[in-house]
Amino acid sequence: MSNATPSNRGPSQSRIKRGFWSSRMAFVLAATGSAVGLGNIWKFPYITGENGGGAFVLVYLLCIAAVGLPIMMAEVLIGRRGGASPINSVRAIAKRDGHNPAWRLAAGLGVLTAFLILSFYSVIGGWAVSYVGTAATGQLAGQSADAIGEIFSGLLGSPWTLLMWHTLFMGLVMLVVARGLRKGLERAVTILMPALFVLLLVVVAYSMTTGYFGQGVAFLFSPDFSKLTTEGVLVALGHAFFTLSLGMAVMIAYGSYLSKDVSIAKTSILVSLMDTGVALLAGLAIFPIVFANGLEPGAGPGLIFQTLPLAFGAMPMGSLFATLFFVLLTFAAWTSGISLLEPLVEWLEEQKGLNRMVSTIGAGGLCWLLGVASILSLNLWSDVTPLGMFAMFEGKTIFDLLDFFTASVFLPLGGLLVAIFVGWIMTRQALQDELAMGSGTFSLWYNTLRYFTPVAVLVVFVYNLV
Ligand code: PHE
Repeated sequence: MSNATPSNRGPSQSRIKRGFWSSRMAFVLAATGSAVGLGNIWKFPYITGENGGGAFVLVYLLCIAAVGLPIMMAEVLIGRRGGASPINSVRAIAKRDGHNPAWRLAAGLGVLTAFLILSFYSVIGGWAVSYVGTAATGQLAGQSADAIGEIFSGLLGSPWTLLMWHTLFMGLVMLVVARGLRKGLERAVTILMPALFVLLLVVVAYSMTTGYFGQGVAFLFSPDFSKLTTEGVLVALGHAFFTLSLGMAVMIAYGSYLSKDVSIAKTSILVSLMDTGVALLAGLAIFPIVFANGLEPGAGPGLIFQTLPLAFGAMPMGSLFATLFFVLLTFAAWTSGISLLEPLVEWLEEQKGLNRMVSTIGAGGLCWLLGVASILSLNLWSDVTPLGMFAMFEGKTIFDLLDFFTASVFLPLGGLLVAIFVGWIMTRQALQDELAMGSGTFSLWYNTLRYFTPVAVLVVFVYNLV
């Protein structure tokens, strides 16, 4: 990032010195680093398994293209136009066009959601870190599915071990955020993302040798609509937001460092494609292994921690590949974790005048503390179901509830507000100015954002509530 003065942007409330990404590529990489994470490799396969496969994947892809992509463009646009942290960007734009500055609360919801997500994201990130050690010490080599299942349940059953890894993961995130994220982040992502991609291809290649590849492909890509539930549609929609890092002000924050000459549409499409590519590859890597070993596709959050080790355990040099894989998974989660903490820290700096170090320690520390509740709900508090009196939440632990409310409620809601703000409140002129697209593609985007996106989100929402 250079330290150019932001002279070519909209109104800025910023009191801190801001700069720009060093290049278009730097933005693409950072945005991809945020988007590609546990959502793609851990969450996508297991929710696909839980929701019956093909039909769910199809709905998910539709959500990415027709809801996610238009909203990603809208978020980046808000950031670049506003030129400040998410909350202040929205306020500046609203104020300048004579609208209620209370719109900033929409971005505020996003910042809060990001904070809540990070609290349990860090716990899962900790699982990834712990598997680096498990793999490196050869514990996964040649093990049976049962033995590998026991390693995983052993980890979840011990709160102190989980706490240690959660602390380490959160510490890593805070370290980068405290130092200002761009220098380290840009460089790390350039090397790590392609490496992750290649390793995923290695696992896919192994999956092809299991004899169950066709079954895996069929599970992912041949839709059986009888297996699709309305809750599944909500999960798919929520996941489209989660995986693209939308609805929580992250893309607004990253967009605020984007220079004016970069095409928002092209970069957003690129980021969405890479994100979707990684998720589908993860599915292709995992499901053949699931079927080959008689595992359950709907096994839930432990899915990748039980399937991938089996694959690696059976390969030549498996321990090495497994170690590498979990290192890269840790990095993918790390770059996403950083982007989850950044919006709140940026706001504390800008609004409360705290310095970066203090903001990071305060926000990260609180988030760490909340993470402890998620850890306990995996073991000592596994019977604690705070909303269990409602049929809908029966059996859901604190961890499940955090996941449900953030991914399936707050994210779509945040996305809906962004769509309304950009589609209905901001002036068309401002949008054309920022996007600089041909009139045909502009209209397509604009109408999708104004009509289709809000209606789709609302329908799915209401349908699930009644
Ligand atoms: N997109 C990330 C993932 O798929 C998670 C994330 C969500 C990161 C929101 C930042 C903001 O893992």
